[in-house]
Amino acid sequence: MRQPLVAGNWKMHGSRAENASLVSGLLDLLQPGKRAEILLCPPFPYLMETGRLLKDSGVALGAQSVCAESQGAFTGEVSAAMLKDVGCRYVLVGHSERRQLFGERDALVARKFVAAQGQALVPVLCVGETLEEREGDQTTSVVSRQLEAVLAVTGVQALARAVIAYEPVWAIGTGRTASPEQAQEVHALLRGRLAAAGAADVRLLYGGSVKAANAASLFGMPDVDGGLVGGASLDAREF
Ligand code: PGA
Repeated sequence: MRQPLVAGNWKMHGSRAENASLVSGLLDLLQPGKRAEILLCPPFPYLMETGRLLKDSGVALGAQSVCAESQGAFTGEVSAAMLKDVGCRYVLVGHSERRQLFGERDALVARKFVAAQGQALVPVLCVGETLEEREGDQTTSVVSRQLEAVLAVTGVQALARAVIAYEPVWAIGTGRTASPEQAQEVHALLRGRLAAAGAADVRLLYGGSVKAANAASLFGMPDVDGGLVGGASLDAREF
């Protein structure tokens, strides 16, 4: 049985005051006994304080990125050990904004994945095609390539200890969500590949303009185990 996971990716938003009010709004709305796991991924400077705000709430803390190196002269970078040290359990790797805006390629994403697991963090590996790739019928090949690049380095056992988020780039922050059927199609492809390798139980999240109004239909698809939510995660009620 795969436990649903709903993750909030705050991206580069927030302040100490805004975060405190967002977290307290969320905790007020949380219904005990609901079976979904909840994860919040604030920007680096707010990790510790958000962790404190979440203490004993059952809500998990994660980071939005991690350095592939373990320590040393890497100005501006944050290691997996540091994330672990401040209370993270999860970390996003390969988010499309990292891939597109910061030049992170498959090989680096795979190294980040390995670095995260080296500190017992759970990587949330993000994959997804651009609009151009979708229109060029390349969705399957792009998403498969992104998955295989990690699988080749880590092996399937490691992938079994991760979460995968399918986030079509054209749906991120655009208000243009994939239809439940489009999401399911790619999730089924990912599930098939993972199952063939012996890791059928990996949780697969959908991300890209998820909000209250479309969450139920997306999360109702058989291979969608929850969501990675950007914009809507900044509003407690919506999230
Ligand atoms: P969005 O972002 O929900 O604002 O589309 C999702 C993401 O980038 O993880």
